[in-house]
Amino acid sequence: MTKLLAVVGARPNFVKMAPLLDALEGDADVRLLHTGQHYDRALSDGLIERLGMRQPDANLGVGSGTHAEQTAQVMVGVEKDLEEHSADAVLVAGDVNSTMAAALAAVKMHVPVAHVESGLRSRDWRMPEEVNRVVTDRVADVLLCTSEDAVTNLAGEGIPLPQGAPGREAEDAPPHVALVGNTMIDSLVRILDGVDREAVVAGQGLEDVDFALVTLHRPSLVDDPERFRPVIGILGALAVEMPVVFPAHPRTTARLEAAGVEIPEGIRLLEPMDYADFIALEAEARLVITDSGGVQEETSVLGVPCLTYRDSTERPITVELGTNRLVGVDPDALDDAIAEEIAASTHSSPPEIPLWDGKAGPRAAQAVLEHLGR
Ligand code: UD1
Repeated sequence: MTKLLAVVGARPNFVKMAPLLDALEGDADVRLLHTGQHYDRALSDGLIERLGMRQPDANLGVGSGTHAEQTAQVMVGVEKDLEEHSADAVLVAGDVNSTMAAALAAVKMHVPVAHVESGLRSRDWRMPEEVNRVVTDRVADVLLCTSEDAVTNLAGEGIPLPQGAPGREAEDAPPHVALVGNTMIDSLVRILDGVDREAVVAGQGLEDVDFALVTLHRPSLVDDPERFRPVIGILGALAVEMPVVFPAHPRTTARLEAAGVEIPEGIRLLEPMDYADFIALEAEARLVITDSGGVQEETSVLGVPCLTYRDSTERPITVELGTNRLVGVDPDALDDAIAEEIAASTHSSPPEIPLWDGKAGPRAAQAVLEHLGR
């Protein structure tokens, strides 16, 4: 049977990988390796359970550190794991440090790499995730794309390389670009089926009221108090009109405390939330404000207005076909966008983004197995 190593490390990895692992069940023998990049229960073990994933076979325990430290430790751990447990291919997902590190370790051991969520580009080279995406795609053999724009990005970078190109032996299979759709939406669809949205909303005391849901965690924003403070002020003003629910990444909470930022009344700063609870609130929110990548996608499928507090997005499809609006990192623009959104009529009907249909996992599995000739 085909032997695969799936490497996961951070919250979004689990959500993107779970549907592919499900679809491979019975067709491949998959070893699951957790790098330990995320270790808090809500970001890691709790999420694994919630997604119905099996427990990882091993955990590298790399934890937090600088980018180089994390990357290096994951590379060493993945290399060792591959030495001890041979694999026909390595599966990685998304754009976190664990993704790139695992891909680099694998390619140097001549093990093909399959990348879930390939081809996304923000064109902002200061984002660590952009570096991770470009490097991972450059070395990946199976490039599993969520949307047509990703395929176009890869073609623009000269991928797939023609067979027999220098560095790629003629007998090697050429890189395989496959438009399979969005596995993160598979997870969303499955979790929404099983969650009592009303009960979650009621649990927060939010029944029958409009509320806003906020997630902000990018280092470029939260590590700079001069940038972050005005945003908290704007959220405070919004909280006068409607409750603002803000489940915060540990990084965000730590930075707010360190900078002594006072949280205005009406903003509910919470611990990172259970995935099902978060999705339920996201589905019921009047408005979502975020700097996350995945949240832009989820709100688009749910038909919930999303304001993205960033200067660029690697997910332009969510602006073209979804409900996402790129505000820019500008407090005044955020203030205006919130006012416009509140004045506008409520939820539009959910748009349809091609192949974001809850069935991307099986398509991704098929592409991986086909590439390996199975
Ligand atoms: C990582 C990803 C980011 C993704 C995010 C999702 C990279 C470069 N970044 O960012 O793309 O959007 O995950 O959640 O890989 N911490 C904890 N508990 C944990 C993990 C982290 O408290 O379980 C704290 C630590 O103080 C740590 C900080 O959060 O220093 C940052 O963690 P790190 O793994 O470096 O990156 P994220 O910010 O989580």
